[in-house]
Amino acid sequence: MIRVERIKRDLEALAQFTATPGKGITRMAFTPEERRARDYLAGEMKAAGLEVYTDAAGNLFGRRPGKNPKAAVVMVGSHIDSVQNGGRFDGAAGVVAAVEIARALQELGKETVHPIEVVVMTEEEGSRFGAGLYGSRAMTGEGISPEELTNTFDDEGISNGEAMKAFGLDPDKIRQAVRPAGTVKAFLELHIEQGPILEAAGFKIGIVESIIGLRTIQVVIYGSADHAGTTPMDMRRDALVGASKIVSQVPSLIQKLGENTVATVGILQVKPGCANIVPAEVKFTIDLRASDNEIIEKAAAKLKKMVAEICSPLNLEYSWEELLAVQPVATGVEIANIVEGVAVQKGIDTMRMQSGAGHDAMVMAKLCPIGLLFVPSKNGKSHCPEEWSDYEDIALGADLYLETILTLANGQGPQGD
Ligand code: GLV
Ligand code: MN
Ligand code: MN
Repeated sequence: MIRVERIKRDLEALAQFTATPGKGITRMAFTPEERRARDYLAGEMKAAGLEVYTDAAGNLFGRRPGKNPKAAVVMVGSHIDSVQNGGRFDGAAGVVAAVEIARALQELGKETVHPIEVVVMTEEEGSRFGAGLYGSRAMTGEGISPEELTNTFDDEGISNGEAMKAFGLDPDKIRQAVRPAGTVKAFLELHIEQGPILEAAGFKIGIVESIIGLRTIQVVIYGSADHAGTTPMDMRRDALVGASKIVSQVPSLIQKLGENTVATVGILQVKPGCANIVPAEVKFTIDLRASDNEIIEKAAAKLKKMVAEICSPLNLEYSWEELLAVQPVATGVEIANIVEGVAVQKGIDTMRMQSGAGHDAMVMAKLCPIGLLFVPSKNGKSHCPEEWSDYEDIALGADLYLETILTLANGQGPQGD
């Protein structure tokens, strides 16, 4: 049986592993706090009878063998890395629910045909190296390019590959994390909604039908560092004047493109960053999302044109780099229908919905059928310390997934045998 007190205990334990105690969760990939969270979870997985291992990308797994060890794996999990000063439920809720499902299966003593794996994904947020969904991308063949390992850096100038090495992983072996086609039967993720819809509609469970597409773009504007007192206003190449014009025009450009197209500039770095120097370089990101890939393409092209048009008369140069591009995905009806069937049996009302947040499930969709379940977020708040979801709702979602996993791991559902 799913036990809410164990879910609460695990989430409270994980909340201790943060670089910003008292100021929300800051737990970036390959850091000491993430190590402590992984160690805690590995201990819980072992106690639940799982065989624990880490793949070449750092994804942490707990495996429950099936009667047919060669059968494709039913995978369930989420991530434990966070944004800067984020909340304690984003990702962690799904990981803790997956571990609790493993405990419940152990207590029930139920064998399944297919193996089941609990997964803790690496660097979903992209908070440390810019491009998220890292662990799931590493599992797909299209995965992670060698350049991404050497050319993406954290704020301290440490590359992704160097951070992996310091964490005991070998970046040259990352392709060993690839899961060959046909070896994963399904991927299930439980997540907090991170928005206000379920709470407003009075539902405890949302069954996600589609996930928006997203693109993370990094723009750098190049001007010239000059003395702030001696350089006449008409002789400056001020990168921040250009960047601020661009940033201020992003909302109006995006609003013309359709109702659920959104774009956010969440990082702005000014160099040299001194009160008495004309800014020489400004780096900023644009997080662009929409449910239609054509709209994303159109928006990206319009944004790029706008950058060029603003830079040119100001005598500024720019670079434009796409750090991450993931297409919108439909989750598929089969798993959604199984979950809904379980909910109906248990008398739980569910709501079909879209996800505006990105999730590892959208990448795993390249490998296998996926399921994504949401539980309500209080006041719709997320990516901030106020983020809250009720433990009882997470337990309810875990309970639905327990039955769903038993169905899938006994050969029914997509790719059933
Ligand atoms: C993940 O939280 C995302 O949607 O950026
Ligand atoms: Mn998040
Ligand atoms: Mn998340």
